[in-house]
Amino acid sequence: MPVMLDAIDRIEDEVKEYHAGSAQEVEQFRIRFLGKKGVLAELFREFREVPTDQKKEVGQRINELKHLISSRVDEMLAVFSTETESEESRDLTLPGPTLPAGARHPVSIVRNHIIEIFSRQGFTVSEGPEIEDDWHVFSALNFPPDHPARDMQDTFFISRAPDILLRTHTSSVQVRVMEKQKPPIRTISPGRVFRNEAISARAHCIFHQVEGLFIDEDVSFADLKQILLYFVNEMFGRDVSVRLRPSYFPFTEPSAEMDISCRICGGKGCNVCKYTGWLEILGCGMVDPNVLSSTGIDPRKYTGYAFGMGIERVAMLKYQVRDLRLYFENDVRFLEQFRAAY
Ligand code: PHE
Repeated sequence: MPVMLDAIDRIEDEVKEYHAGSAQEVEQFRIRFLGKKGVLAELFREFREVPTDQKKEVGQRINELKHLISSRVDEMLAVFSTETESEESRDLTLPGPTLPAGARHPVSIVRNHIIEIFSRQGFTVSEGPEIEDDWHVFSALNFPPDHPARDMQDTFFISRAPDILLRTHTSSVQVRVMEKQKPPIRTISPGRVFRNEAISARAHCIFHQVEGLFIDEDVSFADLKQILLYFVNEMFGRDVSVRLRPSYFPFTEPSAEMDISCRICGGKGCNVCKYTGWLEILGCGMVDPNVLSSTGIDPRKYTGYAFGMGIERVAMLKYQVRDLRLYFENDVRFLEQFRAAY
């Protein structure tokens, strides 16, 4: 193989591998290869010495190399010239790219809203453990030993005798408050609760509650109705009315369940309220004297009311969500729809 072809190969490799860091470096590259005293000029000079029978092949290769170098120069120049151009034409007054803002989970929005409404009425917020003992979840709350709520069907037990379990309601937090604090007590306890239920559109084994408790001298059922009506009007609007239905809870006497007028049909009846005009929202009642005495509060001196609601339930009523499971699936298409200040 003619010696020159070897040299041309090496130069070709070098040209192909070269990367300029700036327009200036491209110019240096151009001068080095295409300049008057450059690599290519030298090759043409040497070409004169090439034996005639090799002239055709070597000449062709030198020409190819020349084209390669020119196109590399153009190519690299193009890169840097567009960069300079875009730098100059960058409009610094344009607004920056918008970052997608996150949305709060609807359960958080509604929980915070509930807390905010009751704080305005002087309620403090109390929290307690999710893993509880039988006393705080059942016994102190006047559950008879054979009450079905203690059953394996409802409660997730961690161990038996002594019974350690996942709380089935946040009333347990209120027992802890009553044990520690002297009346007047005015507190709400938001938190996560657990029940051993089959997951469906209407039930889940994990959900959230806010329970409220007010204990003082001369607290009456009228006070309870007043605070709940206030809450509902703040949460759902002034035009929403309420009704109380007699009910039963071991820890309250009398007990009631409260309905709000259906916001979809305004009480006329539709498929959301199953044509009753009413939607169930919470349980409530006057604290049973047994609960007061088991937590060291004198039931002859003090009376109190209590209420408890599911946060998902309130959110369902507020946002017309039909399926409870949506709250736990973390599908962003669902979550993105909730943007609120709370
Ligand atoms: N603790 C009850 C529940 O979990 C709700 C409730 C609280 C009812 C206070 C009445 C009074 O369902």
